[in-house]
Amino acid sequence: MDPRINPFSPGAGSPPPELAGRSPILDHAAISLDRLRNGLHARSMILVGLRGVGKTVVLNRIHMLAQEAGYHAAFIEANERKTLAQLLLPALRQILYTLNLRENVSDKTRRALRVLRSFIGSLGLKAKAGLGDLELELAIDPETGSADSGDFEADLSELLQAVGEAAADRKRAIALCIDEVQYLHEKEFGALIMALHRVSQRRLPLALIAAGLPQVRGLAGRSKSYAERLFEYPEIGPLRPSECEEALQIPVRNQGAAFSREALDEIIQVTQGYPYFLQQWGYEAWNSSAGPIIELADIHRATKLSIRRLDQSFFRVRFDRLTPKEKDYLHALADMGPTAHRSGEIAARLGVKIQSVAPVRDALIRKGMIYSPIYGETAFTVPLFDEFMCRVMPPSRSLPSRPGDRSVSLPAKSLPTPG
Ligand SMILES: Nc1ncnc2c1ncn2[C@@H]1O[C@H](COP(=O)(O)OP(=O)(O)O)[C@@H](O)[C@H]1O
Ligand SMILES: [Mg+2]
Repeated sequence: MDPRINPFSPGAGSPPPELAGRSPILDHAAISLDRLRNGLHARSMILVGLRGVGKTVVLNRIHMLAQEAGYHAAFIEANERKTLAQLLLPALRQILYTLNLRENVSDKTRRALRVLRSFIGSLGLKAKAGLGDLELELAIDPETGSADSGDFEADLSELLQAVGEAAADRKRAIALCIDEVQYLHEKEFGALIMALHRVSQRRLPLALIAAGLPQVRGLAGRSKSYAERLFEYPEIGPLRPSECEEALQIPVRNQGAAFSREALDEIIQVTQGYPYFLQQWGYEAWNSSAGPIIELADIHRATKLSIRRLDQSFFRVRFDRLTPKEKDYLHALADMGPTAHRSGEIAARLGVKIQSVAPVRDALIRKGMIYSPIYGETAFTVPLFDEFMCRVMPPSRSLPSRPGDRSVSLPAKSLPTPG
């Protein structure tokens, strides 16, 4: 059918034509935001899930909900190269400026700006350098003695409280939406949690809504033991079959076409309900089909095309960021099958001691490639990445062949050779 009106949207953070299965969490977020704005208690939220399940899309929606509810909301994406200060401070400054512009001058807002200035003043030279001209641009005197002790945790706490007070004074609320929080350093994350703890004890109208890979749970727990009580961790997972059906069928129905029953069942089975893959398969199926009914044979073609696409992009960009040692580690893990495996067994498969590959495993966790679903176990954060590893890396002679019937989805015979 006409690719110009193809409704599907595979891609990181691309809003899907039909956001299936996420109303409960969006409703819950809307209630929490309302409560917090009205001075009631609401826990901060960290959306947790593997890559491609739709965390960014949900976080974007919550960001919009917050704006609709009258919040000043910032959307921040953490990454490996930026410190928390670099991510947070420009956003806070922006929010404070907007608060300050609203009506005539407010003491609390001016104070928050001065605290922000002294917070920046207390940062080390390197951290400051990463902030560009922010300090000078503030054009306000620092509030000496506030948020400038040099203890990042205490200072951030003071800063966020000052910002929260400014918002309360203006009868406004602030939402900080932070994506990819697993990239924050443990200390920074700990400081952020501590600061929120204070803000929440004082019922200040400042909300954190974050999203990250499953390792954030451990990161938060290690940083601060009370993180458990401070946050809730809604899990964003694969969609149920009925939700997959909505995600696929509603967009094509809106264009006067439809998936046949067999076609739907096949996509649901092959994609295992992973939202990114649903968009990918939907996209290729639409283009492959003569229409108006998308048939099973169209899905078979879509599977070939989708895997080729994923191999070139979604999987490939992650693979290209790996060192040879990291590739070997992931290859061994992939070779053992798609579930989680004990770290000791992976080391044994590589023929090395567990301690000697621990740094490689740590680096892969930091890169967001693997995580530890339970202590001592390791699994991929990207669904179907194990099958990609086996396609892209020839079987190693030192490794025994993969045990058992492991692939329920993508039969190796039908796969195109990666180019
Ligand atoms: N609930 C959903 N229903 C249908 N498609 C979705 C849904 N959530 C996400 N998607 C699609 O999945 C892909 C990945 O979404 P994204 O938010 O980037 O995932 P993540 O941030 O978890 O890696 C996008 O193409 C998006 O359109
Ligand atoms: Mg994302």
